[in-house]
Amino acid sequence: MPALLIRDLAQVASPAGTGAPLRGAELRRVDVVEDAYVLCRDGRVAAVGRMAELEPLRDDEVAELDGGGLVALPGLVDCHTHACFAGDRVDEFDLRASGASYEEIHAAGGGILSTVRATRAAGEDALRAALESRRAAMRSHGTTTWEAKSGYGLDRETELAQLRAVAAVGGVATWLGAHAVPPEFADADAYLDFALAEVLPEAAGIADAADVFLERGAFDAAQARRYLSACREAGLVLRLHADQFTEAGGVELAVELGARSVDHLEATGPDGVRALGGSDVTAVLLPIAALVLDRPQPPGRALVDAGAAVALATDLNPGSAFGESLPLACALACTQTGLAPAEALAACTVNAAHVLGRADRVGRLAPGYDADVVLLDAPDWRYVAYHVSGGDVAVVVEGGEVAWRG
Ligand code: NIG
Ligand code: FE
Repeated sequence: MPALLIRDLAQVASPAGTGAPLRGAELRRVDVVEDAYVLCRDGRVAAVGRMAELEPLRDDEVAELDGGGLVALPGLVDCHTHACFAGDRVDEFDLRASGASYEEIHAAGGGILSTVRATRAAGEDALRAALESRRAAMRSHGTTTWEAKSGYGLDRETELAQLRAVAAVGGVATWLGAHAVPPEFADADAYLDFALAEVLPEAAGIADAADVFLERGAFDAAQARRYLSACREAGLVLRLHADQFTEAGGVELAVELGARSVDHLEATGPDGVRALGGSDVTAVLLPIAALVLDRPQPPGRALVDAGAAVALATDLNPGSAFGESLPLACALACTQTGLAPAEALAACTVNAAHVLGRADRVGRLAPGYDADVVLLDAPDWRYVAYHVSGGDVAVVVEGGEVAWRG
């Protein structure tokens, strides 16, 4: 593979420092180089610097990319999606516009369970094709590393098909075996008996992490503890959907079990904020879901000020967040949850990479990191959050090669 020189960039911006996750004042430190270049070699970033200081290159072959008028950021990391699904929920969107709530639709057998029916019926090839096309949409918004969950199968065959599809399309797979109770089971405990005995052993061989929807109408804290404890035993990293509508002990459970992340947090109050601030659990904000469901936004500012490690993701799914754009999530994080653009950038790069256990490889534009680069057609890197209509992504480089051009 020839080396790739991205030259004459207006700016290169990257979260500063080396460790992960970033917290407190560290979240605001961005290294910005003006009139800059990025040199990629063998799929990694070899150097970042000022054009004026670019040394003659020793490579036999160098491809050049004109970065004039563009800014370079690290490829964005979407650490929470439900991108692997079939069908849509446009009819429910219409019903919600007329006043039906997400929870009412869910209780009536729609919502997540309607996507379960469509996903079970689709077959693995169609599921993979749907995921491929969503992955392409994510890339066009600047996402180069992504996670996707199962949770729309809730039977053995479809859960494993979802996880295989995510791995095949290049994502980090999370087994969301406790998303909802499917109709063929009498209750949540009976369903968990099945899922832990029949699905977990194989799911643990494909997925990196396990996730549970701890919420009124889904799984309670005792059921979540049982599910997560078994998943930890099987070697999976732990994550939770918690405090989306109600505080039901999810934050406490995440801290107790040493979970990697607790995601949503729209209903989290001061005690939960304090607990996360003093913990190693990353708080994942999903502001698109709060916007779409017209819920309060998660307490992003308070979490950062309490010392929490905060990440930001799309939650891409057909019900609460049908959107692939991390720049939109950044815009909402800044305008609705009180984060600064620098904090939003760190939250969807370094800290999101930490959630996925990949912070040593992705999330920064610095020597040694994977050569995943987003070029924005903008004069300043903060356009990633400032330009609320998005559309600034001009080129996406993955592993040192151009993967997408607008
Ligand atoms: O994170 N809240 C639970 N799960 C998803 C929504 C899934 C769906 O509505 O299909 C979420 O918002
Ligand atoms: Fe989610």
